[in-house]
Amino acid sequence: MAVKQIKKGIHWVGAIDWDRRLFDELIPLPDGTTYNAYLVEGSEKTALIDTVDPSKTGELLGHLQELGVRRIDYIVSNHAEQDHSGSIPELLAIYPEAMVVTNEKCKVMLIDLLAIPEDRFRTVADGASLSLGGRTLEFILAPWVHWPETMLTYLREEKVLFSCDFLGSHLAQSEPLLWDEHHVYQSAKRYFAEIMMPFRNNIAKHLQRLRALAPDMIAPSHGVVYPNPDFILKAYEEWTADKVRNRVLIPFVSMHGSTREMVEYLTGALMRKNIPVLPCNVIGADIGELAKELVDAATVVIASPTVLSGPHPAILYITYLANALRPKFKFASIIGSFGWGGRMLEILQAQLGNVKAEILEPVMVKGFPRPADYQALQRLADDIEKKHRELGILP
Ligand SMILES: Cc1cc2nc3c(=O)[nH]c(=O)nc-3n(C[C@H](O)[C@H](O)[C@H](O)COP(=O)(O)O)c2cc1C
Repeated sequence: MAVKQIKKGIHWVGAIDWDRRLFDELIPLPDGTTYNAYLVEGSEKTALIDTVDPSKTGELLGHLQELGVRRIDYIVSNHAEQDHSGSIPELLAIYPEAMVVTNEKCKVMLIDLLAIPEDRFRTVADGASLSLGGRTLEFILAPWVHWPETMLTYLREEKVLFSCDFLGSHLAQSEPLLWDEHHVYQSAKRYFAEIMMPFRNNIAKHLQRLRALAPDMIAPSHGVVYPNPDFILKAYEEWTADKVRNRVLIPFVSMHGSTREMVEYLTGALMRKNIPVLPCNVIGADIGELAKELVDAATVVIASPTVLSGPHPAILYITYLANALRPKFKFASIIGSFGWGGRMLEILQAQLGNVKAEILEPVMVKGFPRPADYQALQRLADDIEKKHRELGILP
């Protein structure tokens, strides 16, 4: 691969994982991903901002060789997770003078996760700075904008913010600065949903701090670089705000078609009211797309048959995951079918402990829906319409 200059004297030296299809054994990666590392050269010192996944260390080293880098003084570690820190041990062996620059919490984690020797660290506090000669790195501690040790690094003179996982996207691209706005927006939204959404309130506070900084460029550690920071800051301001959109998500499973029939009826009823709706069969679904929909949908209706007294396990998994992501939807309901009895409603409601949504009256049907069941589904559609209208999101 090849090194890319993102600003004079600042090079992208990371790695592109074109065909990685799963992250953390959990998150689908339809577009692959990148592990971005950046080399910043001052007149006296050279700093490497983050490293790459250990499987890609060879590419990072190849890039450093391409630039003829003989000495690295500082390896800044913004985040201890291995896809950014995993190459540090090998780099420390190759560059014996290099020190790992990070905060106290991250240092402890790097020692725990990667057995990095304690004497190779230089710790920094929030607001601390480090001169490279003519260029200054400033460190911004951002705990729980993802992990507890998360930190951002700001190159003061050039106004480049190295934001690590924050504000990133899973997108394999050969040109970090040339990209399609729609594609990147969708990709960044999905990434926000999968990784950042649980920390929404914390992120909102940090966004204000970043606005005050007014960076010229944001260079995250996954995906593309933003030469127009307003694009991604504005998007995050929207996603983290309390506002929801006039949309309904219906994750569903159906074994013999009864629940599917209910979902199709409800979908039609909502469409007739001009409420955009996404029925999503969770069997084999891309959970990233589902998570993306959870960023700002106003209502979620969970639909499942009763299986061994409870919801279908695939729905239970999705509900668990949705609850863990702490989405901001305002209304929820449950619909489904049963043969003889069970505790599906109690089990699903108990799974939604983190969600502050108002529960609209569920619809449970014995077997295949009959006329009275369709009426109950119509009533649910009416309830959703009323609630969206009260919220002022229905045009
Ligand atoms: C493996 C399996 C387990 C089931 N367990 C229950 C149960 O515990 N309680 C119940 O009322 N119905 C149970 N049923 C019956 C289904 O809930 C019922 O047939 C329902 O109408 C199926 O909805 P569907 O057509 O959307 O798959 C079970 C069905 C299957 C296939």
